Amino acid sequence: MKLLRTVEEVRQWRAEMRSIGRRVGFVPTMGALHAGHRSLIDAARSGNDAVAVSIFVNPTQFGPQEDFDRYPRPLEADLALCREAGVEAVFHPDVSVVYPPGFCTWVEVRGPLSESFEGAIRPGHFRGVATIVLKLFEIVQPDSAYFGQKDAQQACLIRRMIGDLNLPVELFVCPTVREPDGLALSSRNVYLSPEQRRKAPVLYQALKRAEAAVLQGETRAEVVHRLMVETVATVKEAQLDYAAAVAPNTFLPVETIEDDVLLLIAARFGNTRLIDNLPVVRPRNA
Ligand code: PAJ
Repeated sequence: MKLLRTVEEVRQWRAEMRSIGRRVGFVPTMGALHAGHRSLIDAARSGNDAVAVSIFVNPTQFGPQEDFDRYPRPLEADLALCREAGVEAVFHPDVSVVYPPGFCTWVEVRGPLSESFEGAIRPGHFRGVATIVLKLFEIVQPDSAYFGQKDAQQACLIRRMIGDLNLPVELFVCPTVREPDGLALSSRNVYLSPEQRRKAPVLYQALKRAEAAVLQGETRAEVVHRLMVETVATVKEAQLDYAAAVAPNTFLPVETIEDDVLLLIAARFGNTRLIDNLPVVRPRNA
């Protein structure tokens, strides 16, 4: 496995791959890798001849009060996971490689996709995400890229950017990997106290209750919303940021659930924010 630290090194590796006709799958990450990341790597391996992973804690997608400085960076364990998973190349640049002095070009996906939900609570977050992902695509030049459903709004925004900018990258969105009790795996779960960790599955429980209602025919988004709010309210450790039913491709809230819908939820446990979501495929009437 190659550890690449500069853009030139990545370009050289990519040229080698191209010269021997290898299809390259790419998994962008911020490290602190877990089984969710691993599932993306496995999907990339099965659909390509070589896999590149980036490990870069991207400062521009963190707000000033957020956890950029304390975000976990267990590089050795991350490299071991990549090696074990059969990754060919890891791109792990310094911040100064990605954002050299004078950097001033930004990518903004406008509208509800970047301004609602996570975008409303984390102003500038999606500008940082779109900018780094486009840069990584330009550096790695992958044939395909793998993202997690766990960050549904991010995946949707990247799909939009790929379409709007005609990027020659095939996008795959892989299912959310969960702990046995339903908590979605996240690099931020390590921040939770034992008590918060015990209560955190309430987000998934709220999503599942809402899903059950929709599958039983509930069409009123307001009722579905209330079910999620009430479920989270049973846990005093959790402060709800939002719960909603949205159209999966636009993130516009729906009032009447007549079609497939995406249920969103986000809450704070102390200083730790957790997000989760559940796509619900409505049974078609015969
Ligand atoms: P990070 O949080 O490290 O996540 C990297 C990828 O792993 C994302 O596509 C995310 O959705 C996916 N992922 C995280 N938890 C998952 C889980 N439980 N199941 C399945 N997939 C999961 O997302 C980022 O980094 C950054 O914003 C990035 C795209 C790298 C840009 O900096």
